[in-house]
Amino acid sequence: MSKDLVSIIDVKKYVGKEVTIGAWVANKSGKGKIAFLQLRDGTAFFQAVAFKPNFIDKFGQEEGLEKFNRIKKLNQETSVLIKGIVKEDERSKFGYELDVTDLEIVGQSDDYPITPKDHGTDFLMDHRHLWLRSRKQHAIILIRNEIIRATYEFFNSRGFVKVDSPILTGSAPEGTTELFETDYFGQPAFLSQTGQLYAEAGAMAFGKVFTFGPTFRAEKSKTRRHLTEFWMIEPEMAFVHHEESMDIQEAYIKFLLQAVLDNQAYALEVLERDKALLQRYIDEPFKRVTYDDAITLLQEKSAENDYEPIAWGDDFGSPHETFISNYYGVPTFIINYPKAIKAFYMKPHPTRDDLVICADLIAPEGYGEIIGGSERATDYDYLKAKVEEYGLSEEEYSWYLDLRKYGSVPHSGFGLGLERVVTFITGNEHIREAIPFPRMLHRLKP
Ligand code: 4AD
Ligand code: MG
Repeated sequence: MSKDLVSIIDVKKYVGKEVTIGAWVANKSGKGKIAFLQLRDGTAFFQAVAFKPNFIDKFGQEEGLEKFNRIKKLNQETSVLIKGIVKEDERSKFGYELDVTDLEIVGQSDDYPITPKDHGTDFLMDHRHLWLRSRKQHAIILIRNEIIRATYEFFNSRGFVKVDSPILTGSAPEGTTELFETDYFGQPAFLSQTGQLYAEAGAMAFGKVFTFGPTFRAEKSKTRRHLTEFWMIEPEMAFVHHEESMDIQEAYIKFLLQAVLDNQAYALEVLERDKALLQRYIDEPFKRVTYDDAITLLQEKSAENDYEPIAWGDDFGSPHETFISNYYGVPTFIINYPKAIKAFYMKPHPTRDDLVICADLIAPEGYGEIIGGSERATDYDYLKAKVEEYGLSEEEYSWYLDLRKYGSVPHSGFGLGLERVVTFITGNEHIREAIPFPRMLHRLKP
């Protein structure tokens, strides 16, 4: 915004003063002598009121009428430079409104496709480049931005160094079935599924690190929880065992919740998210339950619930996670999964040969897994055998195995799916709205 313009978010500093705002007309109503404009300028939405007699008083009969009629005829999403006096307005949620004194049209807008009536999801997704302007979509992305800001604050203030991991890689640490392959000068390359292996190298160089970048999974499933391109925050900590890593995960999620409550209260209101409930997730300790106990619980309760029967060794489906999260009512760690259903790099359990030291953090209210984390295997021979067993190329992973050759130490880390957390904190139905331009099965445009 030009320095000569006042942002809507800042109008509270100008009560009683005349300001100029660069904005778009999100909606319009009123009749006769009065016009109400819903304005948005990217920082917030608020209402401007134009009153015909004021225009006639100021500009005379002819010019005043012409100006007022121009306002009455404004189309949705016309861009304007609007002048007016800021007033406090206790009736509106925003608390302020603008008493319009003049208006200049900057860009016309004819037949804006997204009207105030209801539209189908496919239509909205096809118009994502415009849908982003809508009040609810705008609020979600502001909360996403706050989560990103708070993430940097959390890790920077705790001595973590951001180490960026590459997007083009030769490895497939999270399984070979969900890979986007591309040609790298005649050699196959994959879009990164995780930055973790590079974060581990970073942790051996800097102690505590985090990566934050886009990650890719060629998920063929169409669910409310899966994107093919999503952003992941992956901390990795040398000399840290998994118990401590879970403490950090819990503190981190609570920090994010607090930051959003403190700094995006208005966006939460737009989304009608229950703030007291979010506060409860901060105040109460997260639940920690072992995989074994979670399976037993699901088996005991299966008669009264309609999820698929589950046996020890199975991975949870989304209905199982939803049941568990509703059962405990707070974010819940499910700890120590069977080795057979987890990634090759996890540390084997010291006394249970069939388990690995890890946890998934399941969000409450059915929002699914928001974090996957583990302690990492440190033994060179064990890890080398795992690379073979998982059918990975030893050549491709030699650099990763090096980390166990030269001063291997206990270390743990985790990956937080940004869009999953945005979906949870905003209380949204579907993950597609948690990222500006979602990539999903059958969706590459816009
Ligand atoms: O559980 P995942 O696959 O774990 C890893 O990739 C580890 N390497 C992380 C680590 O330890 N550094 O993915 C981590 C998180 C999940 O808990 C979930 O929140 C999110 O990433 N996630 C997805 N989000 C959106 N769409 C998808 N297709 C996702 N797959 C995983
Ligand atoms: Mg996972």
